[in-house]
Amino acid sequence: MVRVLVVVTRRIAESALNTLLGRFEVRLYDSDEPPSRCWLESNIGDADGVVCTLSDRFDSELFKKAERLKVLSSMSVGLDHVDLDAATMRGVYVTYTPDVLTDATADLTWALLLGVARRVSEAERFLRGGLWRVAWAPNMFLGSDVYGKTLGIVGMGRIGYAVAKRARGFDMQILYYQRRRLSEDVEKVIGARYVELDELLRRSDFVSIHLPLTEQTRGLINEERLRLMKPTAYLINTSRGAVIDEAALIKALKDGWIRGVALDVYSVEPLSKDNQLLRFENVLLTPHIGSATTETRKRMAELAVDNLTAVLIGRLPLHLANPDVVRIRPLG
Ligand code: GLV
Repeated sequence: MVRVLVVVTRRIAESALNTLLGRFEVRLYDSDEPPSRCWLESNIGDADGVVCTLSDRFDSELFKKAERLKVLSSMSVGLDHVDLDAATMRGVYVTYTPDVLTDATADLTWALLLGVARRVSEAERFLRGGLWRVAWAPNMFLGSDVYGKTLGIVGMGRIGYAVAKRARGFDMQILYYQRRRLSEDVEKVIGARYVELDELLRRSDFVSIHLPLTEQTRGLINEERLRLMKPTAYLINTSRGAVIDEAALIKALKDGWIRGVALDVYSVEPLSKDNQLLRFENVLLTPHIGSATTETRKRMAELAVDNLTAVLIGRLPLHLANPDVVRIRPLG
């Protein structure tokens, strides 16, 4: 029998790993930490398939070393860590895991939105720090209303849409911007109005970013755009850090151009201990946990394994990111 080797770059849900073990030879990097570049380089040469995560960078140099590779299955919806053109040129199918993480990520977006508006982690730090001496005071920890406010969604894809759905329960006015406008029917269903990005920034009380990181979106929320926001507005980002110009954001916080920020993603992850964002009380920070629920991570791992298996047995995977690869390496 021909040996088919699958490299798995991280400890994943047991059910998904067992499926792989039942079918293929598996080389597991058995850790929650990412493997080093050196480990990847020296373990990828004989792999037919790889299951990776968003913190494993697959660039053209790495693909050159992956001589047998047919499929790279990423356990993520974002694919900015993969050089898709290099993969396609070398006949590597790249797959990803959309849909299954939409609701978990939308939920975290709402946790951050509510958390920053109502100063939840700031108040908790205060309480745990032993500073709560007055039982109740009219001016203690005043935040902002959420109910009835205007929410601006930048990027109305799957996750943006799920965030918008939740906003209806808060009776919010929803504005959205993305390159391609939705059909009027869909806009009506979700109750969202299309506006240009600058108008969205000027009018929204909460701006939530849901864009993939591409050459077009890198640094999209720059100094000029941050200056358009209301001084009472909040910015939330659960997509990719580099969509916001972080230096400009720090300037905005220092000079009070906006009221608060909630971030799950950063231009460099993990966030360094001396990053200036950590100094602001009105900034709520989480460590890239948008999809981090037990149920969702299990679904992501299982979908990543299904996508990978499909290619290795000659079928089209459910979520293929580089369809042109089919011409370079037809399946079957
Ligand atoms: C998370 O950021 C993902 O891309 O899945």
